[in-house]
Amino acid sequence: MLRVLELRKSYPQRGIVLNGLSLELKESETIAVTGPSGSGKTTLLNLVGLLDRPDSGEILFREKLVNNYTVDEAADYRNRQIGFIFQDHLLLPYLTVMENILLPLSARQLEDDEYRVKVGYARELMERTGIMNLSSKYPWQVSGGEAQRAALVRALINKPSLLLADEPTGSLDAANAEILGNLLKEISSQYGTAVILATHSMTLAKKMSIIYKIENGKLVKI
Ligand SMILES: Nc1ncnc2c1ncn2[C@@H]1O[C@H](COP(=O)(O)OP(=O)(O)OP(=O)(O)O)[C@@H](O)[C@H]1O
Ligand SMILES: [Mg+2]
Repeated sequence: MLRVLELRKSYPQRGIVLNGLSLELKESETIAVTGPSGSGKTTLLNLVGLLDRPDSGEILFREKLVNNYTVDEAADYRNRQIGFIFQDHLLLPYLTVMENILLPLSARQLEDDEYRVKVGYARELMERTGIMNLSSKYPWQVSGGEAQRAALVRALINKPSLLLADEPTGSLDAANAEILGNLLKEISSQYGTAVILATHSMTLAKKMSIIYKIENGKLVKI
C-alpha cells in the first residue's frame, strides 16, 4: 500500500535526519517505529502524511507518487486516506466530544444521509472505545485517556486506510496506555486499517506486527 524509497530529509540547524530511508507497508499491516529522541520518527510520519516535503526520495501510495502533490491534492489525500493521532489529543475545548469527532467531516461535502451514516459510525466507534456516555461532554470534562480515545475515533471517522500515530500514549498513565494500545491493534484488525506507530514504548511497539528502529537515518528491523 505504501512504498517509501530512499527518503532524505535534513534541517538547516540539525543536518541530515533521514538518510535514504526506505519502507514498505502492506494493506492492513501494523508497524512500530522506535528509536531515540531526535532520530526522525516524527519527521518520517510527517513526510508520509504530507505535512512536510522530503529533500529527495519517493513516497508511493497504492503505486501513485504522492510526494509531489499540490497543496490541494495533499489535503485531499490526508482527508481520504490518512488518520492522525498525536501525543496530545488536540481536541478543541469549545466543542463537545461528539462535535470534535465529527469535525473532520466538515472538510467534505456530505449529503444528509451520508452524514447520518457517519454519525452512526461515530457512535459505533465510541461504543467500541468505551466513550459513548461522554458524547456531550467537553474535552476538559473527561480524563486524558478518554480524550485520547476520542482523538482515536476522530482519526478513524473518515475510514482512513492508514493511521499515523505519533507517540499516542506518551501522555497517558500505564493503564490508559494499555487500553489505547489494545484498541489501536483491535480496531486496525477489525477495520483493516494499516498503522505506522512511532513510540518509545516497547510494550506498545510489541502490539504491532513489525518493529523497526531508526538508526543513522534508516530503518532497521528489530
Ligand atoms: N522543523 C524542524 N526544524 C529544524 N529541526 C527539526 C525540525 N523538525 C525536527 N527537527 C530536528 O530533527 C531531528 C529529528 O526530529 P524528530 O522530531 O523527527 O525526532 P523524533 O524521533 O520524533 O524524536 P522524539 O522521540 O523526541 O519525538 C531532531 O534533532 C529535531 O530537533
Ligand atoms: Mg517525535
